[in-house]
Amino acid sequence: MKKNWTLDDMPDQAGKIVLITGANDGLGFHLTKAFAQKQAQVIMACRNLEKAEKARHEVLKLYPEASLDIVKLDLGDLQSVKACAETVLTHYDRLDIIMCNGGIMAVPYGKTKDNIELHMGVNYYGHFALIGHLMPLIKKTPGARVVTTSSAAEKLGRLDLAHPPRAENYNRWLAYGDSKLAILMLGLMLDEKFKAAGINAKALSAHPGFAKTNLRKTRLETEKNLWQRFQLRFYELISMPAERGILPLLYAATDPSAKGGMYIAVSGIGEIQGHPKVSKAQKRAYDPHLRKSLWEKSEELTNVTF
Ligand SMILES: NC(=O)c1ccc[n+]([C@@H]2O[C@H](COP(=O)([O-])OP(=O)(O)OC[C@H]3O[C@@H](n4cnc5c(N)ncnc54)[C@H](OP(=O)(O)O)[C@@H]3O)[C@@H](O)[C@H]2O)c1
Repeated sequence: MKKNWTLDDMPDQAGKIVLITGANDGLGFHLTKAFAQKQAQVIMACRNLEKAEKARHEVLKLYPEASLDIVKLDLGDLQSVKACAETVLTHYDRLDIIMCNGGIMAVPYGKTKDNIELHMGVNYYGHFALIGHLMPLIKKTPGARVVTTSSAAEKLGRLDLAHPPRAENYNRWLAYGDSKLAILMLGLMLDEKFKAAGINAKALSAHPGFAKTNLRKTRLETEKNLWQRFQLRFYELISMPAERGILPLLYAATDPSAKGGMYIAVSGIGEIQGHPKVSKAQKRAYDPHLRKSLWEKSEELTNVTF
């Protein structure tokens, strides 16, 4: 990997179609801008169409020639995920890149429409189902890439699939960590599946370091615990601008030297700041038994098999 990889190193994306989940805000918004600048056609998959239209307008102000489509997607509702995929399958004949970006962090205990704990439901199972539904387009597009967005919090993940978080023993950071370990594993597992099935596609996972977005701001609005508030403010202080946080994700999605199955993070101490670098996840991510159970559980809960 080139040292100090920046947006200038991102190849031109003319002719490519990129789907970005949660494209209206935070990292997703900056990813949309970057892909627009590099001339890709972007499908902004967002749950709030008004916010999405606003974001689209902002990007068009910068890049009036950009091709930006909006598709409704609520990752916490498997029917919505299916409907989004059906729209994409109907209207596009290729799909070069899927950026699995949308997500929530350390929210109070709750469940998705499908009765799944919120973090796992939105951050992980929603993306699993989306990719599964979009598999026909991935197969049709030579060199397609899927990038899943993990976090340094994957190291907190335990993924005890037999005992998912319950209201009584809920720890919001562990729940977030579980979902970020799972989505990381999805990148790695998917790449293995592509290779085993001889599909000309790659999957990678990446994490943005600490980036200034709404993720912590939203948490601060509801956090009452003083110590947690202090930590969140401190993390905010040491975070990079979102424009830098997207670089590991963009490297994974577009650089010719990025290999399937890689995990891309940032180079600084504690992977908080820095330039894209190849990283290693915690041991559990490479555990074949856990991988198998996670895949089976994902197919069972989403009713999507691939
Ligand atoms: N920022 C960081 O330091 C950091 C660090 C590590 C990992 N990450 C990861 O980066 C990703 C993006 O986070 P961010 O920092 O950009 O946060 P953000 O500013 O809060 O943006 C999150 C995006 O996800 C969307 N989203 C949330 N729930 C959704 C749902 N049910 N269906 C569809 N979209 C949904 C949001 O849509 P609405 O606007 O409608 O809410 C928003 O567009 C997340 O996966 C996060 O875990 C971020």
